[in-house]
Amino acid sequence: MIAFSSVAVALLLVGAVTIHAATKVSKADFGKMPDGTQVQIFTLTNEHGLEARISTYGGAVVSLKTPDKTGQMADIVQGFDSLEGYLDPKEPYFGALIGRYGNRIGHAKFTLDGKVYNLPQNDGANTLHGGSKGFDKVVWTPRQLPDGGLELTYISKDGDQGFPGTLKAVVTYRLTAANELKIDYTATTDKNTVVNLTNHSYWNLKGAGSGTILDHILTLHASKFTPVDSGLIPTGELKPVAGTPFDFTKPTAIGARIEQNDEQLKLGKGYDHNFVLDRTGSGLGPVARVEETTSGRVMEVESTEPAVQFYTGNFLDGTLKGKGGHTYPFRAALCLETQHYPDSPNHPSFPTTELKPGETYKTTTVYRFSVKK
Ligand code: GLA
Repeated sequence: MIAFSSVAVALLLVGAVTIHAATKVSKADFGKMPDGTQVQIFTLTNEHGLEARISTYGGAVVSLKTPDKTGQMADIVQGFDSLEGYLDPKEPYFGALIGRYGNRIGHAKFTLDGKVYNLPQNDGANTLHGGSKGFDKVVWTPRQLPDGGLELTYISKDGDQGFPGTLKAVVTYRLTAANELKIDYTATTDKNTVVNLTNHSYWNLKGAGSGTILDHILTLHASKFTPVDSGLIPTGELKPVAGTPFDFTKPTAIGARIEQNDEQLKLGKGYDHNFVLDRTGSGLGPVARVEETTSGRVMEVESTEPAVQFYTGNFLDGTLKGKGGHTYPFRAALCLETQHYPDSPNHPSFPTTELKPGETYKTTTVYRFSVKK
Protein backbone atom coordinates (compact mmCIF):
# COMPACT_ATOMS: atom_id res chain seq x y z
CA MET A 1 0.00 0.00 0.00
CA ILE A 2 2.82 2.34 0.99
CA ALA A 3 4.66 1.36 -2.20
CA PHE A 4 1.55 2.08 -4.27
CA SER A 5 1.08 5.56 -2.84
CA SER A 6 4.72 6.52 -3.43
CA VAL A 7 4.32 5.45 -7.06
CA ALA A 8 1.16 7.57 -7.28
CA VAL A 9 3.00 10.55 -5.78
CA ALA A 10 5.88 10.05 -8.21
CA LEU A 11 3.43 9.97 -11.14
CA LEU A 12 1.77 13.13 -9.92
CA LEU A 13 5.15 14.85 -9.70
CA VAL A 14 6.08 13.72 -13.19
CA GLY A 15 2.77 15.07 -14.42
CA ALA A 16 3.64 18.50 -13.06
CA VAL A 17 6.79 18.96 -15.14
CA THR A 18 7.40 18.64 -18.84
CA ILE A 19 9.49 15.62 -19.61
CA HIS A 20 11.15 15.43 -23.03
CA ALA A 21 12.65 11.99 -22.66
CA ALA A 22 11.55 11.35 -26.24
CA THR A 23 14.68 13.29 -27.27
CA LYS A 24 17.50 10.93 -28.20
CA VAL A 25 21.05 11.98 -27.42
CA SER A 26 24.28 10.60 -28.82
CA LYS A 27 27.87 11.67 -28.35
CA ALA A 28 30.98 11.69 -30.54
CA ASP A 29 34.49 13.15 -30.56
CA PHE A 30 34.72 16.50 -32.35
CA GLY A 31 38.48 17.05 -32.22
CA LYS A 32 41.23 17.98 -29.82
CA MET A 33 42.26 21.36 -28.44
CA PRO A 34 45.89 22.40 -29.03
CA ASP A 35 46.63 21.27 -25.42
CA GLY A 36 45.15 17.83 -26.13
CA THR A 37 41.80 18.35 -24.38
CA GLN A 38 39.15 16.24 -26.08
CA VAL A 39 36.12 18.15 -27.39
CA GLN A 40 32.83 16.31 -27.77
CA ILE A 41 29.79 16.89 -29.89
CA PHE A 42 26.31 15.86 -28.75
CA THR A 43 23.45 15.17 -31.16
CA LEU A 44 19.95 15.75 -29.81
CA THR A 45 17.03 14.46 -31.90
CA ASN A 46 13.42 14.94 -30.88
CA GLU A 47 10.45 12.70 -31.70
CA HIS A 48 9.73 14.67 -34.90
CA GLY A 49 13.28 14.45 -36.24
CA LEU A 50 14.41 17.97 -35.29
CA GLU A 51 18.16 17.62 -34.78
CA ALA A 52 20.64 19.87 -32.97
CA ARG A 53 24.37 19.23 -32.60
CA ILE A 54 26.17 21.00 -29.77
CA SER A 55 29.90 21.16 -29.16
CA THR A 56 31.49 21.29 -25.71
CA TYR A 57 33.89 23.88 -27.20
CA GLY A 58 32.12 27.18 -26.74
CA GLY A 59 28.78 25.42 -26.21
CA ALA A 60 28.25 26.08 -29.90
CA VAL A 61 25.14 24.99 -31.79
CA VAL A 62 27.08 23.44 -34.68
CA SER A 63 24.05 22.44 -36.72
CA LEU A 64 20.29 22.55 -36.48
CA LYS A 65 18.17 20.61 -38.95
CA THR A 66 14.50 21.40 -39.45
CA PRO A 67 12.02 20.45 -42.22
CA ASP A 68 10.76 22.81 -44.93
CA LYS A 69 7.15 22.84 -46.18
CA THR A 70 7.76 19.67 -48.23
CA GLY A 71 9.39 17.86 -45.32
CA GLN A 72 12.91 18.30 -46.72
CA MET A 73 15.45 18.78 -43.89
CA ALA A 74 18.11 21.50 -44.00
CA ASP A 75 20.73 22.78 -41.62
CA ILE A 76 19.74 26.38 -40.86
CA VAL A 77 22.75 27.60 -38.85
CA GLN A 78 26.22 28.55 -40.01
CA GLY A 79 29.20 26.65 -38.66
CA PHE A 80 32.08 24.30 -39.41
CA ASP A 81 32.42 20.57 -39.99
CA SER A 82 35.14 20.14 -37.40
CA LEU A 83 36.64 21.79 -34.33
CA GLU A 84 39.46 23.26 -36.42
CA GLY A 85 37.10 25.83 -37.99
CA TYR A 86 35.96 27.02 -34.57
CA LEU A 87 39.59 27.51 -33.45
CA ASP A 88 40.28 30.00 -36.26
CA PRO A 89 40.81 33.40 -34.56
CA LYS A 90 38.72 35.07 -37.32
CA GLU A 91 35.75 32.85 -36.50
CA PRO A 92 32.83 35.23 -35.67
CA TYR A 93 31.12 33.33 -32.80
CA PHE A 94 29.19 30.88 -35.03
CA GLY A 95 26.50 29.30 -32.79
CA ALA A 96 28.50 30.09 -29.67
CA LEU A 97 27.53 30.53 -26.08
CA ILE A 98 28.55 34.06 -25.20
CA GLY A 99 29.79 35.21 -21.78
CA ARG A 100 30.54 36.59 -19.35
CA TYR A 101 29.09 39.61 -21.08
CA GLY A 102 27.23 39.46 -24.39
CA ASN A 103 27.93 42.35 -26.77
CA ARG A 104 30.06 45.41 -25.95
CA ILE A 105 31.36 47.11 -22.85
CA GLY A 106 32.54 50.62 -23.76
CA HIS A 107 36.20 51.57 -23.32
CA ALA A 108 36.81 48.05 -21.98
CA LYS A 109 36.03 49.01 -18.41
CA PHE A 110 33.30 49.47 -15.87
CA THR A 111 32.95 50.53 -12.26
CA LEU A 112 31.28 48.33 -9.68
CA ASP A 113 31.03 49.18 -5.97
CA GLY A 114 33.45 52.06 -6.57
CA LYS A 115 36.16 49.88 -8.13
CA VAL A 116 37.23 50.12 -11.79
CA TYR A 117 37.56 46.80 -13.64
CA ASN A 118 39.65 46.75 -16.83
CA LEU A 119 38.79 44.21 -19.52
CA PRO A 120 40.53 43.12 -22.74
CA GLN A 121 40.11 45.48 -25.71
CA ASN A 122 39.12 43.01 -28.43
CA ASP A 123 36.91 45.32 -30.54
CA GLY A 124 38.72 48.60 -31.09
CA ALA A 125 38.86 50.26 -27.68
CA ASN A 126 35.92 48.19 -26.42
CA THR A 127 35.28 44.69 -25.07
CA LEU A 128 33.14 42.41 -27.22
CA HIS A 129 31.42 39.19 -26.11
CA GLY A 130 33.28 38.73 -22.84
CA GLY A 131 36.83 39.54 -23.97
CA SER A 132 39.56 37.87 -25.98
CA LYS A 133 38.92 34.47 -24.37
CA GLY A 134 35.22 34.51 -23.64
CA PHE A 135 32.91 31.57 -22.95
CA ASP A 136 32.85 30.83 -26.69
CA LYS A 137 36.54 29.85 -26.53
CA VAL A 138 36.56 27.43 -23.59
CA VAL A 139 35.69 23.76 -23.24
CA TRP A 140 32.55 23.18 -21.15
CA THR A 141 31.87 20.10 -19.00
CA PRO A 142 28.89 18.14 -20.35
CA ARG A 143 26.25 16.13 -18.51
CA GLN A 144 23.38 14.29 -20.15
CA LEU A 145 20.15 14.83 -18.25
CA PRO A 146 17.51 12.11 -17.76
CA ASP A 147 14.94 14.23 -19.62
CA GLY A 148 17.03 14.28 -22.82
CA GLY A 149 18.65 17.66 -22.12
CA LEU A 150 22.33 18.47 -22.41
CA GLU A 151 23.82 20.49 -19.55
CA LEU A 152 27.12 22.34 -19.97
CA THR A 153 29.02 23.79 -17.01
CA TYR A 154 31.94 26.19 -16.90
CA ILE A 155 33.61 27.73 -13.89
CA SER A 156 35.23 31.04 -14.76
CA LYS A 157 37.89 32.04 -12.23
CA ASP A 158 37.83 35.28 -10.24
CA GLY A 159 39.49 37.88 -12.49
CA ASP A 160 38.96 35.89 -15.72
CA GLN A 161 39.04 38.48 -18.57
CA GLY A 162 39.10 41.15 -15.84
CA PHE A 163 35.66 40.34 -14.37
CA PRO A 164 35.32 40.01 -10.58
CA GLY A 165 34.13 36.83 -8.84
CA THR A 166 34.27 33.13 -9.55
CA LEU A 167 31.34 32.64 -11.91
CA LYS A 168 29.75 29.22 -12.24
CA ALA A 169 27.69 29.10 -15.43
CA VAL A 170 25.34 26.20 -16.20
CA VAL A 171 23.59 26.15 -19.56
CA THR A 172 21.05 23.53 -20.64
CA TYR A 173 19.94 22.74 -24.18
CA ARG A 174 16.73 20.87 -24.83
CA LEU A 175 14.63 19.98 -27.86
CA THR A 176 10.98 19.95 -26.89
CA ALA A 177 8.06 18.00 -28.32
CA ALA A 178 6.81 21.34 -29.74
CA ASN A 179 9.88 21.56 -32.04
CA GLU A 180 11.67 24.11 -29.89
CA LEU A 181 15.31 24.53 -29.03
CA LYS A 182 15.14 25.72 -25.43
CA ILE A 183 18.23 27.15 -23.77
CA ASP A 184 18.28 27.77 -20.01
CA TYR A 185 21.14 29.79 -18.54
CA THR A 186 22.03 30.00 -14.85
CA ALA A 187 25.00 31.53 -13.08
CA THR A 188 26.18 32.12 -9.54
CA THR A 189 29.10 34.15 -8.19
CA ASP A 190 31.16 34.51 -5.01
CA LYS A 191 31.69 38.30 -5.44
CA ASN A 192 29.54 41.08 -6.86
CA THR A 193 29.90 40.98 -10.65
CA VAL A 194 28.09 41.57 -13.95
CA VAL A 195 26.79 38.90 -16.31
CA ASN A 196 24.94 38.76 -19.64
CA LEU A 197 24.82 35.36 -21.37
CA THR A 198 23.45 34.62 -24.83
CA ASN A 199 23.70 32.40 -27.89
CA HIS A 200 25.20 33.64 -31.14
CA SER A 201 23.60 31.37 -33.77
CA TYR A 202 23.65 32.68 -37.35
CA TRP A 203 20.33 31.72 -38.94
CA ASN A 204 19.36 31.35 -42.57
CA LEU A 205 15.98 29.63 -42.88
CA LYS A 206 16.64 28.68 -46.52
CA GLY A 207 19.56 26.63 -45.23
CA ALA A 208 22.94 28.01 -44.21
CA GLY A 209 25.01 28.73 -47.30
CA SER A 210 21.98 29.45 -49.55
CA GLY A 211 22.25 33.18 -50.20
CA THR A 212 21.40 36.16 -48.06
CA ILE A 213 18.70 36.75 -45.45
CA LEU A 214 17.49 40.01 -47.04
CA ASP A 215 14.24 38.35 -48.16
CA HIS A 216 13.51 36.87 -44.73
CA ILE A 217 10.44 38.49 -43.19
CA LEU A 218 11.00 39.69 -39.66
CA THR A 219 8.74 40.79 -36.87
CA LEU A 220 10.42 42.21 -33.75
CA HIS A 221 8.29 42.80 -30.68
CA ALA A 222 10.17 45.98 -29.93
CA SER A 223 8.96 49.55 -30.19
CA LYS A 224 12.29 51.04 -29.08
CA PHE A 225 15.97 50.43 -29.76
CA THR A 226 19.23 51.75 -28.31
CA PRO A 227 21.05 53.93 -30.89
CA VAL A 228 24.83 53.57 -30.93
CA ASP A 229 27.97 55.66 -31.44
CA SER A 230 30.67 54.88 -34.01
CA GLY A 231 32.07 52.11 -31.76
CA LEU A 232 28.58 50.52 -31.60
CA ILE A 233 28.24 51.48 -27.92
CA PRO A 234 24.72 52.62 -26.90
CA THR A 235 24.49 56.37 -26.44
CA GLY A 236 22.04 55.81 -23.56
CA GLU A 237 18.99 56.94 -25.53
CA LEU A 238 15.95 54.67 -25.99
CA LYS A 239 14.62 55.67 -29.37
CA PRO A 240 11.15 54.81 -30.72
CA VAL A 241 11.39 52.72 -33.91
CA ALA A 242 8.24 54.31 -35.36
CA GLY A 243 8.95 56.08 -38.63
CA THR A 244 12.48 54.63 -38.89
CA PRO A 245 13.98 51.62 -40.76
CA PHE A 246 14.15 49.98 -37.31
CA ASP A 247 10.40 49.46 -37.18
CA PHE A 248 9.82 45.69 -37.47
CA THR A 249 6.71 45.74 -35.30
CA LYS A 250 4.84 44.58 -38.45
CA PRO A 251 6.26 41.76 -40.62
CA THR A 252 8.82 43.36 -42.98
CA ALA A 253 11.52 41.99 -45.30
CA ILE A 254 14.92 42.51 -43.68
CA GLY A 255 16.31 43.99 -46.90
CA ALA A 256 13.41 46.40 -47.50
CA ARG A 257 15.10 49.40 -45.84
CA ILE A 258 18.61 48.17 -45.00
CA GLU A 259 20.24 50.45 -47.61
CA GLN A 260 18.31 53.57 -46.59
CA ASN A 261 20.27 56.70 -45.89
CA ASP A 262 20.03 56.37 -42.12
CA GLU A 263 22.82 57.28 -39.73
CA GLN A 264 22.25 54.30 -37.43
CA LEU A 265 22.20 51.83 -40.35
CA LYS A 266 25.45 53.34 -41.60
CA LEU A 267 27.10 52.98 -38.19
CA GLY A 268 26.07 49.32 -38.00
CA LYS A 269 26.83 48.62 -41.70
CA GLY A 270 23.25 47.32 -41.60
CA TYR A 271 21.33 46.18 -38.55
CA ASP A 272 23.57 45.55 -35.54
CA HIS A 273 21.47 47.04 -32.76
CA ASN A 274 19.89 46.26 -29.43
CA PHE A 275 16.08 46.27 -29.57
CA VAL A 276 14.17 46.87 -26.35
CA LEU A 277 11.39 44.31 -26.11
CA ASP A 278 7.83 45.36 -25.35
CA ARG A 279 7.39 42.39 -23.02
CA THR A 280 6.10 43.02 -19.53
CA GLY A 281 6.36 40.93 -16.38
CA SER A 282 8.55 37.92 -15.82
CA GLY A 283 8.48 34.64 -17.72
CA LEU A 284 8.87 34.08 -21.43
CA GLY A 285 7.75 36.90 -23.70
CA PRO A 286 7.70 37.24 -27.49
CA VAL A 287 10.94 38.43 -29.12
CA ALA A 288 10.80 37.79 -32.85
CA ARG A 289 9.25 35.87 -35.70
CA VAL A 290 11.21 35.12 -38.87
CA GLU A 291 9.64 33.66 -42.00
CA GLU A 292 11.25 32.53 -45.24
CA THR A 293 8.63 32.07 -47.91
CA THR A 294 10.36 29.72 -50.42
CA SER A 295 11.06 27.04 -47.80
CA GLY A 296 8.08 27.99 -45.65
CA ARG A 297 10.28 27.80 -42.55
CA VAL A 298 9.22 29.94 -39.60
CA MET A 299 11.23 30.59 -36.45
CA GLU A 300 9.65 32.22 -33.41
CA VAL A 301 11.85 33.40 -30.55
CA GLU A 302 10.71 33.89 -26.96
CA SER A 303 12.82 34.91 -24.00
CA THR A 304 12.84 36.07 -20.42
CA GLU A 305 15.42 38.71 -21.44
CA PRO A 306 14.49 42.40 -21.83
CA ALA A 307 16.23 42.91 -25.21
CA VAL A 308 17.65 41.35 -28.37
CA GLN A 309 20.64 42.21 -30.56
CA PHE A 310 19.48 41.98 -34.16
CA TYR A 311 22.56 41.57 -36.35
CA THR A 312 22.45 41.00 -40.13
CA GLY A 313 25.88 39.43 -40.63
CA ASN A 314 27.42 42.70 -41.81
CA PHE A 315 30.93 41.52 -40.96
CA LEU A 316 30.62 38.27 -42.93
CA ASP A 317 32.73 38.39 -46.09
CA GLY A 318 32.65 34.87 -47.54
CA THR A 319 36.27 34.08 -46.67
CA LEU A 320 35.59 31.37 -44.07
CA LYS A 321 34.99 27.87 -45.37
CA GLY A 322 32.01 26.46 -43.52
CA LYS A 323 30.12 23.18 -43.38
CA GLY A 324 30.06 21.15 -46.58
CA GLY A 325 32.34 23.68 -48.28
CA HIS A 326 29.75 26.47 -48.00
CA THR A 327 30.99 30.02 -47.65
CA TYR A 328 29.06 32.67 -45.79
CA PRO A 329 29.04 36.02 -47.60
CA PHE A 330 27.91 39.48 -46.46
CA ARG A 331 24.46 39.24 -44.84
CA ALA A 332 24.21 35.47 -45.38
CA ALA A 333 22.67 35.05 -41.93
CA LEU A 334 20.95 36.89 -39.12
CA CYS A 335 21.51 36.73 -35.37
CA LEU A 336 18.91 37.33 -32.68
CA GLU A 337 20.96 37.48 -29.50
CA THR A 338 18.56 37.72 -26.55
CA GLN A 339 20.27 39.75 -23.86
CA HIS A 340 20.40 42.67 -21.44
CA TYR A 341 21.44 45.90 -23.16
CA PRO A 342 25.06 46.27 -24.30
CA ASP A 343 27.29 48.33 -21.99
CA SER A 344 24.75 48.20 -19.13
CA PRO A 345 27.47 48.29 -16.44
CA ASN A 346 28.23 51.85 -17.66
CA HIS A 347 24.57 52.92 -17.95
CA PRO A 348 22.82 53.06 -14.55
CA SER A 349 19.52 53.80 -16.34
CA PHE A 350 19.59 50.43 -18.19
CA PRO A 351 18.20 47.27 -16.51
CA THR A 352 20.93 46.00 -14.22
CA THR A 353 23.28 43.14 -15.11
CA GLU A 354 24.70 42.88 -11.61
CA LEU A 355 24.82 39.52 -9.87
CA LYS A 356 25.58 39.15 -6.17
CA PRO A 357 26.63 36.17 -4.07
CA GLY A 358 23.56 34.21 -2.97
CA GLU A 359 21.59 35.21 -6.08
CA THR A 360 21.08 33.03 -9.16
CA TYR A 361 21.15 34.54 -12.64
CA LYS A 362 18.46 32.69 -14.55
CA THR A 363 17.28 33.29 -18.12
CA THR A 364 15.60 31.22 -20.81
CA THR A 365 15.36 31.60 -24.57
CA VAL A 366 13.23 29.42 -26.85
CA TYR A 367 13.49 29.10 -30.64
CA ARG A 368 10.36 27.44 -32.07
CA PHE A 369 10.40 25.98 -35.59
CA SER A 370 7.40 25.39 -37.83
CA VAL A 371 6.40 25.70 -41.49
CA LYS A 372 3.86 27.84 -43.26
CA LYS A 373 2.50 26.09 -46.35
C1 GLA B 1 27.45 40.86 -32.42
C2 GLA B 1 27.90 42.26 -32.56
C3 GLA B 1 28.40 42.49 -33.93
C4 GLA B 1 29.51 41.54 -34.28
C5 GLA B 1 29.04 40.13 -34.08
C6 GLA B 1 30.17 39.16 -34.29
O1 GLA B 1 26.30 40.65 -33.09
O2 GLA B 1 26.92 43.20 -32.21
O3 GLA B 1 28.83 43.80 -34.06
O4 GLA B 1 30.59 41.76 -33.44
O5 GLA B 1 28.49 39.97 -32.80
O6 GLA B 1 30.86 39.35 -35.45
